[in-house]
Amino acid sequence: MKLWDGRFSKEMSDSTSEWAASIEFDKRLFREDIAGSIAHCRMLAKQEIISEKDAALIESGLREILDEIEAGEAEFTAATEDIHMSIETLLIERIGDAGKRLHTARSRNDQIATDIRLYLKEEILSAIGAVKKLCNTLLALSEEHTETVMPGYTHLQRAQPISLAFHLMAYFNMFSRDAERFWNCYERTDYMPLGSGALSGVNYDTDRAFLADELAFANICPNAMDAVSDRDFIIEYISSASICMMHLSRFCEELILWSSSEFAFIEQDDAYSTGSSIMPQKKNPDAAELIRGKTGRVYGDLITVLTLMKGLPLAYNKDMQEDKPPLFDAADTLKSCLVVFTDMLASVKIDKDRMAAAAKTGFMNATDAADYLVAKGVPFRECHEIIGKLVLCCIEKNTSIEDLPLSELQSFSDKFEEDIYERLEPLACMNAKRSEGSSAVDRVKEQIERAKKQLK
Ligand code: ARG
Repeated sequence: MKLWDGRFSKEMSDSTSEWAASIEFDKRLFREDIAGSIAHCRMLAKQEIISEKDAALIESGLREILDEIEAGEAEFTAATEDIHMSIETLLIERIGDAGKRLHTARSRNDQIATDIRLYLKEEILSAIGAVKKLCNTLLALSEEHTETVMPGYTHLQRAQPISLAFHLMAYFNMFSRDAERFWNCYERTDYMPLGSGALSGVNYDTDRAFLADELAFANICPNAMDAVSDRDFIIEYISSASICMMHLSRFCEELILWSSSEFAFIEQDDAYSTGSSIMPQKKNPDAAELIRGKTGRVYGDLITVLTLMKGLPLAYNKDMQEDKPPLFDAADTLKSCLVVFTDMLASVKIDKDRMAAAAKTGFMNATDAADYLVAKGVPFRECHEIIGKLVLCCIEKNTSIEDLPLSELQSFSDKFEEDIYERLEPLACMNAKRSEGSSAVDRVKEQIERAKKQLK
């Protein structure tokens, strides 16, 4: 028996019924579904569409069902198809005829759209909370490492010396934009579809403002057809989640590189690493690798929903039932990755000496050597060429610029003087970057201060 089988002369085949049911995955929306039903029932009573007596029975019945589901006592079967009809069936079994009035002036189409938006609003807030925690961890680490010099790379080749704090603050900015994106997405999710009916509204004098108030929606979907048809808010959320995962994944890639013996800038805590079943010496940065891997899953979820929606005529189509597994998967993956990543990052051991030693090699002071000559009046292009030749000579002699005696430096340019040596120190190169937003210790401290205010 289905709640809709009046017009059918045969039952749905068992195999199809089981296959088409969504209860296995949409049962996790039971809280939202019941909250939506309670608000709807109160509204129906207030508008005198159902009696106060029936409304009271419905509401208490729904609350009991909620408790039972929470306690793991309710049993769902594919026979009742989805979370909406499962709960409605339980309600009718429990309170009889009054329960049959709940679905007045409502469709599963506005119901599911409401459930997902309620779910997603919570999910977005918790993603923002998790991103903020990560940002706080980044700030705390940055404050400790404004003078921890390390190589900055372009093309993964040593480029210019920077501090670890500067590098971490780059990520801080990416993640704070992620939080902003989630917030923008929240604002567009905060529209209530309930009251839209199947597609064109309902034949009753409903009060949608009352419903929105009950369910804490800031806005009401202004067009019933749009309300039940679009899932752009899901796509927007998974897009934002994909971008955030991309940031996590890049960071993971760096942590993986940095923990290799080739870099050895950091050591991952045992708690976030695993061993090898065959090679006794191994300690693998599994958590970071797994986050990098799971990023692909979230991208897949995005493509799933985009593809799902691209050819659908308005309004509701059953295809849309398939939006939930990718949405849940993206939300669960994002949240767990943010939590694991934040804890992992906080526990990483940083080898400042290795970083500092690496910052001394690779001619990362070459730009500063050129700028030294610029300050003495040599045009930059000429300086670039002089230092290029100097670097080539050092490569041939297997030495570095600062290890050449002054007389030899002067054979490249007579503008070199004794003070060149202190200018070539990695920390001096870093601090010479005086532009706003640069890697200089003071500039990074400014960035940290601004970030702290922003986080509040
Ligand atoms: N289980 C459905 C979904 O998730 C609920 C809406 C069903 N509406 C319908 N007309 N079949 O999309």
